[in-house]
Amino acid sequence: MADLSSSPAISKAKRDSGAASSSKSPFFSRAYGGYTAGQQQFYLTHLGKLSGKTILDPMSGQGFLLANLAFEGATVWLGDINPTMCLMSSLRSPEMVQNRERLSNWFDEQLGRGSFSGKSRGAEYVDDWLPDNIRAELRHYRELFGLSGDPFREREAFSRMPLRKRFAAAIPLLAAREIACFRSSDNQTWIKPGGLQREPHITAPLKRAVASWYAFATASADLYREGCQPGQLLTMRMDAAAGDFAMSPKVNAIVTSPPYANRLDYTRMWGPESQVAASIWEASVSDIQSRQIGSNVVRGTDRFRNDEEALPREIVKALRDIKSDEGYASEGYYYPFFRNYAVTLASSVKKLVSRVLRNGTLVFFVRDTVRKDILFPAGLLIEEVLQSEGYRLVGRERQIVKRHVGLRRRSAGSGLYGVGQQEWWLAFRKVR
Ligand SMILES: C[S@@+](CC[C@H](N)C(=O)[O-])C[C@H]1O[C@@H](n2cnc3c(N)ncnc32)[C@H](O)[C@@H]1O
Repeated sequence: MADLSSSPAISKAKRDSGAASSSKSPFFSRAYGGYTAGQQQFYLTHLGKLSGKTILDPMSGQGFLLANLAFEGATVWLGDINPTMCLMSSLRSPEMVQNRERLSNWFDEQLGRGSFSGKSRGAEYVDDWLPDNIRAELRHYRELFGLSGDPFREREAFSRMPLRKRFAAAIPLLAAREIACFRSSDNQTWIKPGGLQREPHITAPLKRAVASWYAFATASADLYREGCQPGQLLTMRMDAAAGDFAMSPKVNAIVTSPPYANRLDYTRMWGPESQVAASIWEASVSDIQSRQIGSNVVRGTDRFRNDEEALPREIVKALRDIKSDEGYASEGYYYPFFRNYAVTLASSVKKLVSRVLRNGTLVFFVRDTVRKDILFPAGLLIEEVLQSEGYRLVGRERQIVKRHVGLRRRSAGSGLYGVGQQEWWLAFRKVR
């Protein structure tokens, strides 16, 4: 077992957690949907010594905690189907942090050359995520910074983006919650487009975002100055269900937290950021919405039916129960939704197996959910798939989750709302 008491990754996470509630953190809610402190302890225990190791998370979201491992000498590959998340996580890399002075100065200088004082109608109510004048300014921003490669439409564009351009593409995402128009409900993951325009132009929020990122980067550099030689953080756009892990090599360990089978749509949870990123390239997030694991787009997905019988027995049974339930939309919506989730999750787990070196470790964090009283055992699905691939379970913890973004509603008082909250922390090693 690794001794975690002196881990800079843990102390940095603690510090970042504190920063999350202060206005200084450049990231909107640093741990939004990310690993918890307990999950971090679990994967650090199973990873052992970090220096020199290569670690992959192909569904990494904003990469809040795993990015820290790069500061401890590991080479960390992070990916996500949403390029918005890749841009955000790349802001946490040692390379960006080490170049913070140069990048921030260049950014300020370049921004000063732009002209963002066009017509704004001031504080008006807007129906969409972004007011028209802000969309026009983001297009101008793209031209100003020469952001030609479009990571939404071109698969390789993100990985080809030089550091400066990646930085310039990522900074507006830190300003997204000031630039975009949205209404929050009592459930912060289900925000809706539309609302009062908060800022007349993008310039002031961008300046605040870069200053705030600079402070974060300086604090990150200070924390690790005494530590070991930093490793690398490489961020690429990936599609785990399709087995697309970009250019990542075979790795010592995979640590990942796939989506859960609930109604949470990550492109909506990260709506302001995703819409600002898409607007820079005049792209749409709808393609990502339908391709993400756990997508609630079920129309036109009959092709997944062919893979259903190859799923573990318990999963096939749960799917049959969901399909034959007499409740509303059981066959038309809930059955294909859970089936697609199971097929794409199983596919990503199988494809990941081929990315791990001999004696490598796989760590998954996943939740079982329910459709009415039918349990959908996602943890068991991962266990069965990996056992059939010759992996042995070397660590398992079950958590009953009492708090979760998206589930506790003010009106629900102390109770839990919606789906069951049984979470699995699973670690595997190859046995043959
Ligand atoms: C539970 S979140 C991961 C959160 C992350 N651990 C963090 O620290 O922020 C799941 C992520 O999987 C991504 N995702 C969904 N389908 C995917 C796919 N097919 N390939 C890669 N990423 C996917 C989502 O965009 C989302 O960011």
